[in-house]
Amino acid sequence: MLRIVVLVSGGGTNLQSIIDHIEDGRMKNVSIACVISNNEGAYALERAKKHGIPTLCISPKSFEQRSDFNAALLAKLDEIHPDLIVLAGFLLVIPPEMVDRYPNRIINIHPSLIPSFCGTGYYGLKVHEAALARGVKVSGATVHYVDKGTDTGPIILQKAVEVKEGDTPETLQKRIMEQAEWVILPEAIQKIADEKAAAEKAARQEEER
Ligand code: GRF
Repeated sequence: MLRIVVLVSGGGTNLQSIIDHIEDGRMKNVSIACVISNNEGAYALERAKKHGIPTLCISPKSFEQRSDFNAALLAKLDEIHPDLIVLAGFLLVIPPEMVDRYPNRIINIHPSLIPSFCGTGYYGLKVHEAALARGVKVSGATVHYVDKGTDTGPIILQKAVEVKEGDTPETLQKRIMEQAEWVILPEAIQKIADEKAAAEKAARQEEER
């Protein structure tokens, strides 16, 4: 079983897709140990509660210094001890100590085909505004491991989505979410769960020899 923690800040449609995939059996051997938000008003927390998933809010506003918030987030994660941390629309910069503590165990979904329209300042609708301004005919989404850079970690999965005549940042964002993000985020988590299961099986066979 791959125990995941999902970090969110907003609406949580990507979280919903993970929940749906688990509940209808498209995703196997994955469980959500906790959903953590930096923002008390995030609708993502309601989505988790509706499905009986433990939730937590840890807000930087409750701490005098950002380093204290970072330490509190890290302490909570260490307590839960997840196999994988999934950033699903988490808008805060990940503390470098978290990357050190969870190497290759944090993944993020970004709404473009990296290396296009990514890095500092490319979040939310800004990504799609930039894609439309450049006139690309194809955009999409990327799931990648998180390293200390912004959107620079190893790519796990990507899916392309057509840009249509007359698209606005909003219509493009919606199509990319529906056709790419909600598909490849669960797929990437399943891939990691399958890899973990295969590694555990190989270790068992090695022991039995
Ligand atoms: C998604 O577009 C994701 O790619 C981005 O933030 C948005 C989150 O949406 N990083 P939601 O909260 O999952 O609905």
